[in-house]
Amino acid sequence: MNNKIKKILKKKNKSKIVCLTAYSKNIAEIVDYHADIVLVGDSLGSVLYNYDTTRKVNLNMMIEHTKSARMGVKKSLLVIDLPYNTYRSKSEALKSSKKAIKETKCDAVKVEGGTRMKEIVKHLVKNRIPVLGHIGVTPQTTIGKFRSKGKNESEKRKLLKDAQDLEQCGAFGIVLECIYSDISKQITNSINIPTIGIGASVNCDGQVLVTDDLIGLNETKFRFVKKFGNIKKNIKDAVIKYKNSVKKKKFPSKKNSY
Ligand code: KIV
Repeated sequence: MNNKIKKILKKKNKSKIVCLTAYSKNIAEIVDYHADIVLVGDSLGSVLYNYDTTRKVNLNMMIEHTKSARMGVKKSLLVIDLPYNTYRSKSEALKSSKKAIKETKCDAVKVEGGTRMKEIVKHLVKNRIPVLGHIGVTPQTTIGKFRSKGKNESEKRKLLKDAQDLEQCGAFGIVLECIYSDISKQITNSINIPTIGIGASVNCDGQVLVTDDLIGLNETKFRFVKKFGNIKKNIKDAVIKYKNSVKKKKFPSKKNSY
């Protein structure tokens, strides 16, 4: 097993796992130093391309962004999201994963779905592809508005079974997206692999956020997002300074000229 994955597994019940997204080298470089896992998520479809659904993201887009992120990631585990319709069968999932890993040198793949993904996850793991699961709200298969999961007993039972099945099939961790706190806690306590929450409360073993959201570059109204910075303002200030310097002929100065 990959040493980075071993380290992440050891954090369960000891210290929180930090996971963040990166779609390119510059952000990846900053995030890598502080994170355990850097995820090239298919959220890039909405964040960068303004798609109304992640279903429009394809494998080549994911590969190009992961190649860029790879240049910035030195110490963290680099995970690529397998996009929609690239892992519908065991053979398709293996082919997509092998291509993604070969071309990007990433460490692992993430797939959405619980119990229904059992055979596919088992097959990937058997073929030495490390897999991060993703249950709860799974944007690739959610039509319409996202609704948090685990409110009633049947949803709770299903989520618990999803998580247990993914663990049993060899996933090294599971993203829990938009899951009620009590069931996040129950899932986290009932499996030996780490849970990484997004909108799934502090009860998870780790947390993930879309970096563009937390730095205030991307506007989002999801309740689970907290803005930890306002990078948009910093960029705006720099752009205004540049514009004024150009207009006043203060830039480029002699120093910036040949
Ligand atoms: O696509 C993504 O960025 C994700 C995370 C939000 C978990 O799946």
